[in-house]
Amino acid sequence: MKPLIVANWKMNPQSLIEAGKIFNSVKRGVKNIKNAKAVICPPFVYLSLLKPQESSSAMSLGGQNCFWEEKGAFTGEVSPEMLKNLGAEYVIIGHSERRKHLKETDEMLNKKLKAAIKEGLKPILCIENVSQIKKDLKEISDEERENLVLAYEPVFAIGTGKPCGAEKARKINISIRKIVRKKIPLLYGGSVNSKNAADFIEKAGFQGLLVGGASLNPKEFIEIIKNIEKV
Ligand code: PGA
Repeated sequence: MKPLIVANWKMNPQSLIEAGKIFNSVKRGVKNIKNAKAVICPPFVYLSLLKPQESSSAMSLGGQNCFWEEKGAFTGEVSPEMLKNLGAEYVIIGHSERRKHLKETDEMLNKKLKAAIKEGLKPILCIENVSQIKKDLKEISDEERENLVLAYEPVFAIGTGKPCGAEKARKINISIRKIVRKKIPLLYGGSVNSKNAADFIEKAGFQGLLVGGASLNPKEFIEIIKNIEKV
């Protein structure tokens, strides 16, 4: 499987014009990329307006969250089906910022995962320890895990400019692998940039990256992808 480089734009940028500029620059930049795939996860409001090239397998869209119910009286929420209908292939679930600020519990995330899987979305489950994985994936069968992606994101590394060291990340990778099957891609996230990106693949053995801050700078994001492609 090609390495996945996921762009988590979080609550940025502030206008559609800016979002379009970033998106189109990335789109141009990944045109000739063969051995990596970029997944852009913008705020919901921009999703329907950003279109990857139809023929390209190097770029895809994802949501940053979804709700667990299919439809109805849930003010402010977005269903997996809505994301799917807008062309999203992936959805980030359980980002540590949502666990912290929105008080999302493992129980809620388990329901979100089940709903996303049912709709055929590929969930990118963010975790920072093994016990979260066990709780979040409760009663989700191997078959249902077919399109699951995991992202190890140590909170100390998120948005701090202080990434986890490659050796430490490698050890955590091994401990996560003891409880999830090899087939499930495992990404690293937390202060990834073009200088350290390749280490997480080459030295720490991850199958891709979840990129926050650096994904808003198209030049830097494309550089990350190119460096991964060389590995
Ligand atoms: P960062 O964020 O790359 O800005 O550290 C990563 C994330 O929160 O997914």
